[in-house]
This record gives sequence, structure tokens and C-alpha cells, in this order.
Amino acid sequence: MKIVFATNNLNKIKEVQALMPSAIQIVGLNDIGCIEDIPETSSTIEGNAIQKVNYIKEHYGFDCFADDTGLEVESLHGAPGVYSARYAGEAKDSNANMDKLLKELKGKENRKAQFKTVIALVLNGKLETFTGVCSGLITEDKRGKGGFGYDPVFLPDGYPETFAELSLSEKNKIGHRGKAVRQLIEYFL
Ligand code: IMP
Repeated sequence: MKIVFATNNLNKIKEVQALMPSAIQIVGLNDIGCIEDIPETSSTIEGNAIQKVNYIKEHYGFDCFADDTGLEVESLHGAPGVYSARYAGEAKDSNANMDKLLKELKGKENRKAQFKTVIALVLNGKLETFTGVCSGLITEDKRGKGGFGYDPVFLPDGYPETFAELSLSEKNKIGHRGKAVRQLIEYFL
């Protein structure tokens, strides 16, 4: 089975393909000729995931799934949340986003945070959503070279390493996207 994953983020495609049974092959947006930015104008993570799959179905006619992820920081009242990608501006610069986050949390004792991923799937005329959450703490400094986005400043509960210091398979085992993707796979099977 081939299914479109409505993203051009190669890191995400790699992470998700690593979790899928070999019978399910993921195709990215480049592969269907979609190179434009899909609108993400909802005020919720779930709303953005749904907006992406509806856009692809409407403009390209493919069944597909899409994910939207946000980092929710407790002492920042859930920020950056749905605005995680653009936290430090339209450039969507991960380093600038992390610098801003570390600055906002400077001197704050409560560093609890969670990643939340919502996957929306449109298949055979039906819409489904799957949610995965991973709780942890925001570090004082960036650590590690792996992963992407906010990984170098996120310490998942129960681990001394940041997401950027863990292997991809370790991150997938405990991570927000892995949890949501496993629900998606169960739905397919
Ligand atoms: P998106 O909207 O799902 O692409 O993600 C929103 C923001 O969260 C982007 O800035 C990503 O870099 C960041 N992000 C998404 N997934 C992860 C992750 O697994 N680790 C760290 N940051 C992530």
C-alpha cells in the first residue's frame, strides 16, 4: 500500500517510514508535485493537521495523512504550542526558536513541557485523528546533534539524554510522533 504523507520535511518522512511495516510505503509531497506551502491557519494543532489533509484531498485528489506538532511549555501557558515553527519569526529557524525559548525560561524553576502530535488521516471518505504526547523538561542549554526542531533542548521524562542525543529508534520508541504513528498503523492493519 502507498499513502501520501502531507509533508516535505525529510526528517519526518524518515522517522515515520522507520516505524511503518515494509508493506506500507510513504510518498511525500514532492512525489505528488505539491511544492507550495499548505495553509496552516488554525488556532489548534489538531485543526492544522486536518487543514493539511483536506487541502491535499481537495487540490490533488489523494487520500493522505498529515501531522502537526507543537511544544507546549507549562510555565509559558502552553506556548509556543501551535506557533512552534514560527516562535522566533517567519524564518522558521530552529536555532532562533530554541534561543528564544531558553531566554523566556531563564530563571524559571518550572521547566515542564510536552510535545504533542496530532495525525489526521483522510481515507476512503473518512476523517480520523490520532494523538501522541511525550512529557519532559526543557534543558538550560542545547545538547546533541541528532533530530531536528527543538530536540536539543527537550529532555524526555526518565532519560538523561535530550532527544537530539538519542538515536532515531530510541526517539521513535518514546516520542510523540512515534506514539501517534503507531495508532495510525494499527488503524491501517
Ligand atoms: P510541524 O508544524 O509539525 O512541522 O512542527 C512545528 C514545529 O515543531 C517546528 O518548528 C518543528 O521544528 C517542531 N517539531 C516538530 N516535531 C518535532 C520533534 O519531533 N522534535 C523537535 N521539534 C519538533
